[in-house]
Amino acid sequence: MQTIAPSIPTLDTPDLTYTDWTVIETQFSPDLLHARETVFTIGNGYLGTRGSFEEGYPQDLSATFIHGVFDDVPIVYTELANCPDWLPIALSINGETFRLDQGTVLKYQRQLDLQQGILSRTVRWSSPNGRTVDLHFERWASLDNPHVLAVRCEITPVDFDGFVEVQASLNGYPENQGFNHWELIQQGKQDHSIWLSSRTRGSRIQLGMTAQLNIVGADATPQGTSVPGYPTLSATFLVNEGQTYAVEKLIAVFTSRDVEDPLAAALSELSALTDYKTLRAAHRAAWAHRWTYSDVDIEGDLRAQLAIRYNLFQLLICGSSTDERVSIPAKTLSGFGYRGHAFWDTEIFILPFFTFTQPETARRLLSYRYHTLDGARRKALHYGYKGAMFAWESADTGDEVTPRWALPNQPYGEDVRIWCRDQEIHISADISYAIWQYWQATGDDVWMRDYGAEIVLDTAIFWSSRVDLNIKSERYEIREVIGADEYHEHVSNNAFTNRMAQWHLEKALYLYEWLLEQYPEKAAALNVKLNLSQERRSRWQDIVQCIWIPYDPSTGLIEEFEGFFKLKDIDLADYEPRTKSMQALLGIEGANQRQVLKQPDVLMLMYLMRFTQAFPYSEEWLRVNWDYYAPRTDITYGSSLGPAIHAILASDLEKVSEAYERFMQAAMVDLEDVRDNAADGIHGASAGGLWQAVVFGFGGIQLKENDGPSATPHLPPGWTRLRFRLHWRGQWYDFDLRPPEASRQNYPDIRGVIFDLDGVLTDTAEYHYRSWQKLADEEGLFFNRQANEALRGVSRRDSLLRILGDRKVPEDKLEDMMERKNLYYISFIQDISPKDLLPGALTLLQDLRKNNIRIALGSASKNAQGVIERLGIAEYMDAIADGYSVENSKPAPDLFFYAAQQLGLEPQHCVVIEDAASGIDAALAANMWAVGLGPAERVGKAHLVLPHLAGLAWHDLLVKLSELERKEASVSR
Ligand code: BG6
Ligand code: MG
Repeated sequence: MQTIAPSIPTLDTPDLTYTDWTVIETQFSPDLLHARETVFTIGNGYLGTRGSFEEGYPQDLSATFIHGVFDDVPIVYTELANCPDWLPIALSINGETFRLDQGTVLKYQRQLDLQQGILSRTVRWSSPNGRTVDLHFERWASLDNPHVLAVRCEITPVDFDGFVEVQASLNGYPENQGFNHWELIQQGKQDHSIWLSSRTRGSRIQLGMTAQLNIVGADATPQGTSVPGYPTLSATFLVNEGQTYAVEKLIAVFTSRDVEDPLAAALSELSALTDYKTLRAAHRAAWAHRWTYSDVDIEGDLRAQLAIRYNLFQLLICGSSTDERVSIPAKTLSGFGYRGHAFWDTEIFILPFFTFTQPETARRLLSYRYHTLDGARRKALHYGYKGAMFAWESADTGDEVTPRWALPNQPYGEDVRIWCRDQEIHISADISYAIWQYWQATGDDVWMRDYGAEIVLDTAIFWSSRVDLNIKSERYEIREVIGADEYHEHVSNNAFTNRMAQWHLEKALYLYEWLLEQYPEKAAALNVKLNLSQERRSRWQDIVQCIWIPYDPSTGLIEEFEGFFKLKDIDLADYEPRTKSMQALLGIEGANQRQVLKQPDVLMLMYLMRFTQAFPYSEEWLRVNWDYYAPRTDITYGSSLGPAIHAILASDLEKVSEAYERFMQAAMVDLEDVRDNAADGIHGASAGGLWQAVVFGFGGIQLKENDGPSATPHLPPGWTRLRFRLHWRGQWYDFDLRPPEASRQNYPDIRGVIFDLDGVLTDTAEYHYRSWQKLADEEGLFFNRQANEALRGVSRRDSLLRILGDRKVPEDKLEDMMERKNLYYISFIQDISPKDLLPGALTLLQDLRKNNIRIALGSASKNAQGVIERLGIAEYMDAIADGYSVENSKPAPDLFFYAAQQLGLEPQHCVVIEDAASGIDAALAANMWAVGLGPAERVGKAHLVLPHLAGLAWHDLLVKLSELERKEASVSR
């Protein structure tokens, strides 16, 4: 038996469903407004637009972020300015304004088509006066021409003839959470079109935006109106019941970062545009092409398939295809979190996806660091060091923009000093690491010569000025840093930082020799510019040899930093269940003083060195360090950067279920908002880590200097195929991986799931109890909740016999009592409806269906059929075994045999999900997999015990059962 602690918070989101290419929201929940605005972000590498509604909604956080459009702001120095909003379309239906918070929403579906980059929404709305209208919106940001955006709305009156008024606007007053960055320069109108020109207050970036409106199906000429800062095109037209009309809004946008006169450029772009359909076809074609080299195709796990595509989509829409002066913000272009600043997230987590699938984009992202070198030099100078010291948070100039202080929300809270700007210095090595990886993957010597070398060498100079020589112990040290694990500040000799610095200097030395040999003129030029004297390089060599990395050579255990092992130890299980980070629970000092990690640190180092199997990586050392650090890492609520990395390492260590659990945690971070902060924007690093988890983890890709990438797959249970492409030194490598035969035998071959009903899919177990209690009270029989526990899953007759105990009752009296109990029960279940499904039940049924797993009901109840109909899940059942199906009730296996037979499956291919001890016994007697829901005292005999179905997806279950089977197999071997 294995009991799973409910450690990963997964919101039950029955309103979010999916196919292999689309994310579908089936219901509008105002509570999820901001998180879903993030989820439904679209973009095209030039800009990103959150998924707020065309007609607006109270408290929405609509935003469009254009790469590089930063403006000054207090405390955090600079932020991406929310740009004028191109979405607004106000509809008035026979004089009533369409709004989701008024009237009645009769149907609602919003979907993001990842394959085509189109967000659409279908709404049937009944106005407060009772007029019903069907609306279908779609929007896209052209991938073919990034300066072109489009929204279209189809309008079909369902039950009236009348008139519709449309107002399509550009909102020149966008805000960054209350702060307006824009001043209006001018606006204007012409037939069919409007325009807006504005400028950021501090950085003086100009933006020109224009829009045109076209009405299809009705005779109407849009008129422009000029509300200041809100140019609008309006049209009113007559509509007939059952007829469909469309309004098409096309937008063009430029900034002074792109062209000298952005308004003129936008106007001329707009006037040259063809029609909506042609533009959309070009946009779709561009996406189709983009996916040919970006896609990851997973067979056998639809949820994982959708999730990886979703995350890649979110990366694809924020990697610029033209601009090498911008990076990718930590929250991409999808939210206000971290103000559009870039961190190591880009180089270490996001970049590999681009490096190995679209190296030109990777090159631009790295060139951004070249263009911001002067900022890094100013930072080094400010802190009294030499060379270039990259900013922990970087924006347009490369100067450090990490806020110095975080201000409290409560009136009496303390300000918190943020030390990352001063101490989290590993970023300079991380950037060099990414440069190196890009160079290895592409062989792009020219870029390395012209851009990369200067970055690597000038940051090497920084490192050599940053390390201290400890004369007593004759070693180099790096004091007062924050490693990857940000729960510990002001630490010394952080293994991650010291080893990365050592690695960096090693590579810098190699690079200099390479330059001397290949491009002596460039070497000479850099020598003059940076001073790469022999003396300087000898010192690098000396540091490489003598920098201290705290570890125990006899065991391979690395100490995260000097003194880490002396900190108070911690058992994270003591804090479960929790919904907060360990730092939130313990306080900054509390976490600082304990052996608790926000995210992998030693293990992160292991991961980065794994590619080249360099020190300290070895499989043996990985295991030793995993065993020590993984249990001490706040992997649920610490950093979102952690799970994907743990997934890869767990996969290396053949921890199948942990690898998959971490993978899914990263995959769902935004879709299911597992950390409750999707509202702030997409977790870009997690998305990039996810790609690495699939390719380097499950695909087992290794990069060999001379032979190119090769795979040693260890696919999660259920994955029958994994395909992706990698670009290596000018050549494409297509991977088409399937699980090796041996691993397939290791995993259970499950084809059907048999659900008990009462207490599993719905809470009717409680009604059975109350009905028996009522009967027992009337008959003066002893009965209580505890006695009822033994009746779970037991047939009506057997239940009554147990309640009666020794008491002998004639058959007609027995029949009468059973009938009375049933009448009470039936009166309880009268009002059952789909909302009485237990959390997670519907999602799991849908997921099983999508993965072609057969489903049966296996309930002792004679009322089962009626209950599942009322619950609205009858359509999911391929077979029904109920109180009428067999003679012998649970714990006899008969009912489940019957169900399996109806499904056409052998018992060993079936899983039973039960809440009753008798049901678990029956499943085991039937030689099926048994999953118990509820306390171990009741269902502990099951193979697997879970608290409930909430958050459980088919593959989570399969992976957990697989691990059990593997364990059993290895025990019996
Ligand atoms: C099981 C319930 O599903 O069905 C039992 O767990 C119940 O409590 C049994 O006694 C029979 O139900 P019914 O509806 O046929 O009386
Ligand atoms: Mg039950």
